[in-house]
Amino acid sequence: MTEKIIELDGASIRFGEKQVLKGISLHVNKGEIFGLLGPSGAGKTTIINILTGQLSCEGKAEIFGKNCRKIGREVYRRTGAVLDNCGLYERLSCEDNLKLFARIHSVPFSEIGAVLQAVGLDGCEKKAVKSFSKGMKQRLALARAILHHPDLLFLDEPTSGLDPATAAEIHTLMNHLRSRGTTVFLTTHNMDEAYHMCDRIALLHEGNIVECGVPAEICRKHCQTAELRIVTSDEEPLLLANWPENADTVAQLIREGRLKSIHSSEPDLGTVFLRLTGKELDT
Ligand SMILES: Nc1ncnc2c1ncn2[C@@H]1O[C@H](COP(=O)(O)OP(=O)(O)OP(=O)(O)O)[C@@H](O)[C@H]1O
Ligand SMILES: [Mg+2]
Repeated sequence: MTEKIIELDGASIRFGEKQVLKGISLHVNKGEIFGLLGPSGAGKTTIINILTGQLSCEGKAEIFGKNCRKIGREVYRRTGAVLDNCGLYERLSCEDNLKLFARIHSVPFSEIGAVLQAVGLDGCEKKAVKSFSKGMKQRLALARAILHHPDLLFLDEPTSGLDPATAAEIHTLMNHLRSRGTTVFLTTHNMDEAYHMCDRIALLHEGNIVECGVPAEICRKHCQTAELRIVTSDEEPLLLANWPENADTVAQLIREGRLKSIHSSEPDLGTVFLRLTGKELDT
């Protein structure tokens, strides 16, 4: 049976008058990259805070089969996190930041070099963190989070505000971690990131999960138009209904070697979110 690394069942939380989570249920399997999508204020960071034992909720919240309210040293040793309030020591050097965490987790200092290389910060060991760019700080935060080889990694908007090249490096590292069996719980506003990086995602809106599953399957499920967008070899665009009556036209184009590209018209995740909630994902 697949091991559940994270489980929420009927998780609710309110801050004063505001009910932020209204009975959320989800689980994350071992080795998955799971993405939580929702607009600003939806409750994504709140869910991470619950799962990491920083906030207490009503309902069931477990990581590694343990109640999140009673997380002990053993669970923290198996967990890493990059949260949106980065938490690095600005006046310390890059290396000294990592040495501090290496000491906490009993990681030999000799492993620091390899982790800095993995995040592309080799050569920056002696530089003070205050001189780092946003992307460098984010990579150092990631280095710190993976230094002790956690089984579960929380990433709260890990590529937000980063240039595409740095974001791509972080995605490569995430894929590498997945290949080693690390489970990743990611929050993001970025639909492309969610679509391409996540095995499964949940869409969060006004305290509820409005959709959950494999990104491509979600998009197909919400496909309303059933159209085929075709471009022929002479660059002629063609929009055909995806009906049996049009099969011969498509077959003919293939036979004549004139079919240059063909796409079904399922919506992207942002469009799915808009249809389900009437709201844009990235607002
Ligand atoms: N400790 C707290 N006390 C009071 N209100 C809080 C607290 N933490 C979160 N909230 C409120 O809960 C709601 C959800 O906040 P949260 O930070 O989880 O959203 P988010 O989805 O992570 O948003 P963003 O995408 O902007 O990071 C917001 O309305 C926020 O003001
Ligand atoms: Mg947040």
